[in-house]
Formats: sequence, C-alpha cells, structure tokens
Amino acid sequence: MHAEPRLAALRRRLTQDGVQAILLTGVSNMRYVTGFDDVFDPMINAACLVTPEIARFYTDHRYSEAAEEAAVGTPWAVRIPDDSLYIEACAELHEDGVTELALEASVPYGRFKFISEQFVGSIRVVEHVVEEVRQVKESHELERIESAARLTDRAFDHVLGLVGPGMTEREVALELEFFMRRNGSDDIAFDPIVASGPNSAKPHAGVSDRVIGVGEFLKLDFGARFEGYCSDMTRTLVIGSATDRHREIHAAVLEANQAGIGAVKAGVPGKDVDAVARAVLESKGFGEFFTHGLGHGVGLDIHELPTVGKRSHDSLRNGAVVTIEPGVYIPGFGGVRIEDLVAVEETGGRVLSSSPRELIEI
Ligand code: CO
Repeated sequence: MHAEPRLAALRRRLTQDGVQAILLTGVSNMRYVTGFDDVFDPMINAACLVTPEIARFYTDHRYSEAAEEAAVGTPWAVRIPDDSLYIEACAELHEDGVTELALEASVPYGRFKFISEQFVGSIRVVEHVVEEVRQVKESHELERIESAARLTDRAFDHVLGLVGPGMTEREVALELEFFMRRNGSDDIAFDPIVASGPNSAKPHAGVSDRVIGVGEFLKLDFGARFEGYCSDMTRTLVIGSATDRHREIHAAVLEANQAGIGAVKAGVPGKDVDAVARAVLESKGFGEFFTHGLGHGVGLDIHELPTVGKRSHDSLRNGAVVTIEPGVYIPGFGGVRIEDLVAVEETGGRVLSSSPRELIEI
C-alpha cells in the first residue's frame, strides 16, 4: 500500500542521476521500496529491480508465498527463479534492452563481482539513493517510531524500579530487552549499552559482567523495534548519592541536549545543530570530552540519514527523525550521555522520548 509513492520518489531520483536501472540488495532499502512488511528477515535472499517502467522483486522459494501475498495490489511483479536470482535479473535486463545497471555502494564485493560478470553492459555504483528518500517519514512510519519510543520509555521506567548496586550490567540489559520484547517489540533495535562507573566513560561500552557499584554513573542506551522501526534513547543515572562532579557533568550534558533539541528545525544543516550543542559543552570546559557527533537519523535502521555532526553535509528535512545525544566522557571516572529521539518539523523539533532527563539518584 506504500509502494507507489516510494517507487515514484525513487524513480525521480534515478532520472535526476541519469540511472537507467537499479538492482537493490540492501534489506532495509528493499523493505522500504516494496512496502512488504511481512516478507523480510535479515537472512532473506532477494533483489529489487527498478527502471522507469519495471518493478520486479526476485526472491527464492522460501519467501515466495509471503512475497506473492504482499505484492497483491502493488506495482511489484514477483519472480521466483530456480537458479540464482542475479542471473535471472541480468538475463531479463538483457531482454529488456537495458545496457547500464546501477548497484548500491553498500553491495558486498563478492556479489558486486558476480553481478558484474552476469550483466551484459556497464555497471555503476550509486550511493544513498533510497536512503535519501527514506529520510522523510510518512505518517504511519512516524507512528511506528513513536510506538517504539513509548516502549523504550516504559522499559526505562521498569528498570528504574529494579536497578541497584550489586546487579551486573548484563542483568540490567536483559531486563531492558525482555521488557521491550514482552511488550510488543519485534526485536531490540541494537544491543543495549549498560555501562557503569569507568565503563560509562566509553561512548560505546556495550555490556559486561561488571557489578554496578555505589557512587557511580550508570549509562543506559537502548532502543526497541516496532513493526520494523527503531527507537533510540540514552539516560544516565547515579547509583547512590550524586557528588558535585556528577551533578556538574550531568547538568552540562542536559543543557547541551536541550540546546540541540532547540536548534532542530526543517531546513537547518545537521552541522549547525551539532555546533549549538557543542558550544554549550565547550563553554563549560567539557568540549574535549564530547568525542562523537551529536546525532543520526533513525527509521528502519538504527543509524540512517541524516547525520547530525561536525562533518555532516545533510540538512534536516521536514519529516526526518533524528537523535540528539551529546555526551561527556571523562576517562577513568565516567561519562554521561542524554539522548532523545526528535521528529523534525517546519516549526521545530518534536521530542518523541518522554523519560525524565533530570539527574536520577537511585
Ligand atoms: Co543513538
């Protein structure tokens, strides 16, 4: 039901770039352009061929029933070759008289080589053609992201009720995951980060068997996946009573988070939003400890366009969803990150995460 406008947007983009035909193999891009919700899993063997006239979905027998059901009423023709689907797609392109084929920059090299050997004509590589279309979310995509964000908020609230000294990071991560899955998350959006004490100073610490101690930061970065769409949120607690140093770092990061959210608006360059939040941390002497970009787009993938960082070339488009996640990481001591999911609108940013941001001592 969503395929037609998406295909139209992709075709406009292909025409602008002078592309005759594209063979998509990235799972999130295929899921997006087909609009097939119940066909894709991470192991799927499939390809989508798009030209100004053609929309063909190639897969194998394991997915044929699901694909044929999903394609009813859409512009997609389903092909289930007995042989390699790339051989079949290239043979059909030859019959159609197509002499130039584009592949995505993300295609694995072995597959690139195989398709190059099969296709009669020239191959070119294009970057981000579907990803750029995917930035702007349709209302039902926004609803799914909002549902995923609500699950994240509820999981945080659940964990606040049980976390404490003596638990391991892994136990907390499992509580988050189990809560989200039990309450409607198809999967977790990514492996949660539960980082305590000195581990919280590593921006992407992951999870260990470290026992959480009193007087430490505990950083929780996690997300749900609802009907394919991700959420992403980070909160940082203090276990026990916060010291002045804990409070100073947390307050600076919160101010940067709020300034960053305040700078979100359709049309604003991602690097300008990053600069606003970064300036807050620099003014407080924490600039050197904010070592990553301010945020990233979120949708079918946990990291997608636009980028919101110092070197970003993207502008925020109306309907995009981005994270705003400043952090300060003091090696050997600990770190704080406060991350919210924000929908980009004409008048500003609409925050989708509603968990408390003030410093929680637990
Ligand atoms: Co994030």
